[in-house]
Amino acid sequence: KMKIKFLGQSCFLIEINGKNIIIDPYLTENPKNPTSLNEIPKLDLILITHAHSDHIGNAVELALRDDALIVTGTELARWLASKGAKVIPAGIGGKKDFEFISVKFTQAIHSSSINDNGQMLYGGLAAGILIYAEGKTIYHAGDTALFLDMKLIGEMNNIDYAILPIGDNFTMGIDDSVTAAKWLKAKKYIPMHYNTMPLIEQDPYEWLGKIESNGLAGEILNYGDVLEIQ
Ligand code: NI
Ligand code: MN
Repeated sequence: KMKIKFLGQSCFLIEINGKNIIIDPYLTENPKNPTSLNEIPKLDLILITHAHSDHIGNAVELALRDDALIVTGTELARWLASKGAKVIPAGIGGKKDFEFISVKFTQAIHSSSINDNGQMLYGGLAAGILIYAEGKTIYHAGDTALFLDMKLIGEMNNIDYAILPIGDNFTMGIDDSVTAAKWLKAKKYIPMHYNTMPLIEQDPYEWLGKIESNGLAGEILNYGDVLEIQ
């Protein structure tokens, strides 16, 4: 049994049989939905799609607090390790098996740089993440433009939930996200990366209407909503 909680922007907290995994923990600095770290249960694993601050967020503090392992791209992993975090570097296309979950980093078309006290450092490649757990497959696309290989991701995986950005400006907007959804052939789609800041204001119901008019299933998660997966 799996629970997925939406914590704003691209952050999802996944609970699998008492283990907690967080993706892109942008929490205390989120201007729209600030989340205190006290509200986050003890973490086992932290997954980060890329190095932008709205994705690294509080990863270092949480990793140190809980002795949690961070899995992310090589360059970002090294920087996080220099801050004291326990890391596993992951390359795009590589799959890593843990006791309760497997993760595979996928292509994303986006930039990635680390803001280290105002200095911009190379952050490696931005990625999406496929998560395999409890017989289910979840695809978190990260920050990305639409790309044709999403068709391949859809063909190679039996995706239950695909989480796609809709904010436009930095990533796919509503129409490209709907095209991605047609290609991914997931059972259900969840929008992310919108309405956190003025540049990415979007109406998720417009997205949902277009998803449904294409015969696809979508679900809008509001901040704090939990999806229970049997
Ligand atoms: Ni980004
Ligand atoms: Mn972002």
